Amino acid sequence: MRAIVVVDKNWGIGKNNDLLFSLPADMKHFRETTTGKTVVMGSNTLRSFPGGNPLKNRVNIVLWPGGEKREDCTVVGSLKELFAEIKKYPREDVFVVGGAMLYRTLLPYCDEVIATKVDADGGAEVFFENLDSLANWSAVSESEPLETNGYTIRFTVYRNASPLAY
Ligand SMILES: NC(=O)c1ccc[n+]([C@@H]2O[C@H](COP(=O)([O-])OP(=O)(O)OC[C@H]3O[C@@H](n4cnc5c(N)ncnc54)[C@H](OP(=O)(O)O)[C@@H]3O)[C@@H](O)[C@H]2O)c1
Repeated sequence: MRAIVVVDKNWGIGKNNDLLFSLPADMKHFRETTTGKTVVMGSNTLRSFPGGNPLKNRVNIVLWPGGEKREDCTVVGSLKELFAEIKKYPREDVFVVGGAMLYRTLLPYCDEVIATKVDADGGAEVFFENLDSLANWSAVSESEPLETNGYTIRFTVYRNASPLAY
C-alpha cells in the first residue's frame, strides 16, 4: 500500500475540509498515478470531493464507521474490515488518498509515500506526518521543480524501511 499526498512547506494538507491549493499539474499526476487502481479514504475526504462523489475510474473504499452502504463505493466500518477489503487487490495498486486522520492511521502500513511538495505556506489546519523526522522513512527521489498555477512544486517519493503487515 502507498499513500499519495500534496503537502505545503510545513507538511500541511488541508483547511475547511478542502485542499490548500489548486494545482493542475498535481491533479494530472494524481489522476495518472491512481486511475485504474484502488483508492482508500476517510469519510471527510469523500465529503470534500465535488458532490461528495467517489473518484471515477478507480475502486473507492471509504472508512466510515456508521456510514451507510452505497452503490458507488465500498463503505467499511472498521480498520479490520478495511484491511480485509484491500487484501483483494495487489499491494502496489492500493493508494491511501487522505485525509489527515486516515493518513496517520495507515502510514505504518505504507511501503511508500508519493508526496507532492509545494514551496508555499498554505495556512493549513491539518497536517501529514513530517517524514523527514521519522526514523524508518527516507526520501528516495525528487523531481525537478515545476511551475503550476503560480506555485513551484516537486514530486517526491519516500520509502518505509519497515512497513507493518496487514
Ligand atoms: N493534501 C492532500 O493530499 C489531501 C488529501 C486528502 C484530504 N486532504 C484534506 O484533509 C482534510 C480532511 O482530513 P480529516 O482527517 O478530517 O479526514 P479523513 O481522514 O478523510 O476523515 C476522517 C473520518 O474518517 C473516518 N476515519 C478516518 N480514520 C479512521 C480511523 N483510524 N478509525 C476510524 N475512523 C476513521 C472517521 O469517520 P466518521 O467521522 O464518520 O467516524 C473520521 O472522522 C481536508 O482538508 C482534505 O481536503 C488533503
